[in-house]
Amino acid sequence: MARKLLLELADIPQIQNIDTYISHGGYRSLEKALKKMTPDEITEEVKKSGLRGRGGAGFSTGLKWSFLDKSTDKPRYLLCNADESEPGTFKDRYLMEKLPHLLIEGMILSSYALGSNTSYIYIRGEYMFVLRKLEKAIQEAYSKGFLGKNILNSGFDLDLYVHPGAGAYICGEETALIESLEGKRGNPRIKPPFPAVSGLWGCPTIVNNVESIAAVVPIINDGGDEYAKIGLGKSTGTKLISASGNIQKPGVYEIDMGITVEEFIYSDEYCGGMKDGLELKACVPGGSSVPILPRHLLFRESNGDSRRMTYESLSEGGFTSGSMLGSGGFIVYDEKQCIVRNTWNFARFYHHESCGQCSPCREGTGWMERILHNIENGRGTEDDIQLLWQVQKNIEGNTICPLGDAAAWPVAAAIRHFRHEFEYHVKYPERVFDADHTYQPEIQQTYSLTT
Ligand SMILES: Cc1cc2nc3c(=O)[nH]c(=O)nc-3n(C[C@H](O)[C@H](O)[C@H](O)COP(=O)(O)O)c2cc1C
Repeated sequence: MARKLLLELADIPQIQNIDTYISHGGYRSLEKALKKMTPDEITEEVKKSGLRGRGGAGFSTGLKWSFLDKSTDKPRYLLCNADESEPGTFKDRYLMEKLPHLLIEGMILSSYALGSNTSYIYIRGEYMFVLRKLEKAIQEAYSKGFLGKNILNSGFDLDLYVHPGAGAYICGEETALIESLEGKRGNPRIKPPFPAVSGLWGCPTIVNNVESIAAVVPIINDGGDEYAKIGLGKSTGTKLISASGNIQKPGVYEIDMGITVEEFIYSDEYCGGMKDGLELKACVPGGSSVPILPRHLLFRESNGDSRRMTYESLSEGGFTSGSMLGSGGFIVYDEKQCIVRNTWNFARFYHHESCGQCSPCREGTGWMERILHNIENGRGTEDDIQLLWQVQKNIEGNTICPLGDAAAWPVAAAIRHFRHEFEYHVKYPERVFDADHTYQPEIQQTYSLTT
């Protein structure tokens, strides 16, 4: 049974109440951190832990904290990114819903380390029911003296607010989030300056994902070195994975970094294997933005070693034969799922969510969506596949924020690994689906073998 550093208490009845949480060891890190450790010592523990940001990019959390500009008199801010809108990713919601006090405890520790006296949790607008739980938990934390003035007589003050977004995926991008929090339209800013130098209201700001901030609690309780003992290579600690698709047990799992992809999909502790006796066809391992991997690349790295649930292993082979751990949104496809239809679905999402600032993304996402729609609906041509490839290529790397890349990568990977399905759609539009609108694998197989 894998260790649980974050979700250990998740199934305890009434754990959302502060007294229950405290009676199971909750908030014990505050005495230690606020009274016996300096802010720099906390940052040092986070560095030692090797924790990498759980929002998608996997940047070292301790290193990011050390970039915070402390040379000015301006206030500093910690913003928790709870926007979580990436299709396939629902781990932060689970964590906040089950353990709101874990996030608040992490926010207090992290705010103390960064010298932030006013911190915000920016939450996705659709998570209103979670927002209410967080607000109740924050009130409880104030009543215990864990928030407010002179917390536990340490001299440290902190006010914590939850701020709902209005349902835009782009507001999860850190600079768009800052714009939105300032009351403006959530358009990403050009970087540099990075938020650590000039963020919220032009002040030094750190933006961290929910899971990253919650992980600071076990890091302070047990020490950064203990945390770093879990995992593999530069992927330390545990990771929340939200698993979906046609698997036996979809849900949110806390894994030790480094278990094999095969174990994650087939073991009873996690996904429990495929459903309905169907074969696995492909997997998107890190949320809709990362490249899809066909079965033959999913379990093995190019040197034949097992592919593992780490940042390094999932990206081994680059985009030719690898993908990314991303935000941990693990989507599994069975043999009957249509890759063209899935790619069109993602493209529709990115077109809808593009903020429209950069032409390649604004125009390109719409273009990709229309081409995919045509191919999926039997009106595509061979040239369309080539055009689709060109459009995604012209978006990648040509936008202010990575939403453009996030829209381009799934399309590129789908064409790279499943070109035969695109070609089949073009060649035999009337034969692609059966009555249930599921892809006919036997036709796909025959076609692949004969072309
Ligand atoms: C379009 C877009 C959406 C994003 N959405 C989220 C999100 O919902 N949650 C999140 O933590 N990071 C999201 N990110 C990444 C953030 O910009 C940022 O890197 C992250 O919050 C940093 O936290 P971390 O270092 O703890 O991972 C998104 C990035 C992009 C480009």
